[in-house]
Amino acid sequence: MSWKYPCDTPFNNAIKSDKMTPYSLYVIDDEQSIRDGITISIGDDYSIDSFQDAESAIAALQIRAEKCCSPDLVLMDIGLPGMSGIEALEKVKQIDPAIPVIMITAYEDIDSVISSMKLGAFDYVTKPLRMDILETAIKKAIETIRLRKEVRLLQKKYIKENMPCLIGESDTVQDMMDFIKMVAKSPDTPILILGGTGTGKELIAKAIHFRSPNFNAPLVEVNSASISPELIESEIFGYEPGAFSGAHPSGKKGLIEEARGGTLFLDEIGDLSLDAQAKILRFLENGEFYRVGGTKKIHLKTRVISATNKDIVKMSETGQFRKDLFFRLGVIKIEVPPLNERGEDILLLARYFLDQFAKKFAKKMVSISRGAEEALLNHDWTGNVRELKNAIERGVLIGKKSSLRAEDLGIGPSPAKQALREKNDDANAPDAYPPMPPDGMDLTAALMDMERHYIEQAWKSANGNSNQAARLLNLNHHTFRYRRKKRR
Ligand SMILES: Nc1ncnc2c1ncn2[C@@H]1O[C@H](COP(=O)(O)OP(=O)(O)OP(=O)(O)O)[C@@H](O)[C@H]1O
Ligand SMILES: [Mg+2]
Repeated sequence: MSWKYPCDTPFNNAIKSDKMTPYSLYVIDDEQSIRDGITISIGDDYSIDSFQDAESAIAALQIRAEKCCSPDLVLMDIGLPGMSGIEALEKVKQIDPAIPVIMITAYEDIDSVISSMKLGAFDYVTKPLRMDILETAIKKAIETIRLRKEVRLLQKKYIKENMPCLIGESDTVQDMMDFIKMVAKSPDTPILILGGTGTGKELIAKAIHFRSPNFNAPLVEVNSASISPELIESEIFGYEPGAFSGAHPSGKKGLIEEARGGTLFLDEIGDLSLDAQAKILRFLENGEFYRVGGTKKIHLKTRVISATNKDIVKMSETGQFRKDLFFRLGVIKIEVPPLNERGEDILLLARYFLDQFAKKFAKKMVSISRGAEEALLNHDWTGNVRELKNAIERGVLIGKKSSLRAEDLGIGPSPAKQALREKNDDANAPDAYPPMPPDGMDLTAALMDMERHYIEQAWKSANGNSNQAARLLNLNHHTFRYRRKKRR
């Protein structure tokens, strides 16, 4: 069976390398001799498009910018007929502010030069044109563009190497990925990630960071569960010398300061002390805080992503967690579904982990046996993706065949799922449905039973793919998923 990792599509396809093409120039001048002179002198080194007026150049630029790629550089005469060079410069900057524009001007027109430099022109050259001076100006602009492109490529490479691969084809995960891409765009909106243990909250926090405009500033994680409640405040906000006994004599910068301009990931927020909660709330409201024992207000910007596997709603209702902070942290909420509710993803994730661990342990394990697939689909994944990952790691490590087998996984079907299977197996027996008792029966309950039976059969036949299972029962997948959830 062939399969692919969906992470190649939703999360990594935006990262393509730029191809090496000659730098492209627009030359806009009403004098043909200037246009021709430039083309003859440097036409072999650059791809040149010439225009005799600003109107046609702006129209062409607009179309090119919308299609994909503006020219790298514009050479523009200031004294154009119709739309002047200065007006055209403004338009160019509106269409694509990153294009450097070199103005070509009559020597005496110093006012226009000043205006164009104020409007963001990169440089200017004077008429009569000296090609050596023009070429130097072009080379300077091209060097700036080359450096910008290099930085962009390095950034893309960095993102590609760090962007986590979030596997999942189920509708819920696909919707969640779309939502993540959307909310990541803002640099500072707080995001709260909720979900059971091992569902992938930390991975999602990373995905948000590397998709956000803050991606090249640090992502700093604070795990409140692993830091004692007395220390958590000073860990996050830092402290001044002598703030408490045992403090370092020169004081310490807090993790929030390390995350300046990036992302502060507050993991396990359910374990935050009430003092730390109050300080975080203040920071979220005003963007400012004091170090422990400090009197100097510190302002900074960082995005706060928080996560918990606890029932934070309940905690906020019982006073264990500040309600106002809960609302502030959860301006955007992402709820990660348990793995049991996204059966379509189980085998996909299993194959992904199989590949990873086979590489890691240098084992030639290439497939998952039918029996192992059954076991994976029937197991109750209370530990979610982490538990699945661990089972596959174990299986790959101890497995002796080229195919992963059920017994290598060290998992069994859950008692609940086993009971359901047995019930379904019983229902397969020839007289599964006894004749109606003489004093009548509960038809609704019997029909519900039958529905459960066929839903689970379709689910198994489709290897946990709900779209396929829905087709087998002539249902749309939303109805299928709804009914399956209800009948379990
Ligand atoms: N969709 C996914 N695709 C690939 N790997 C995943 C996915 N979801 C989770 N994982 C992997 O499963 C493991 C557990 O994920 P993670 O640590 O993000 O869970 P968590 O929700 O933060 O758990 P906890 O609440 O226990 O801290 C990690 O190794 C992570 O890489
Ligand atoms: Mg976690």
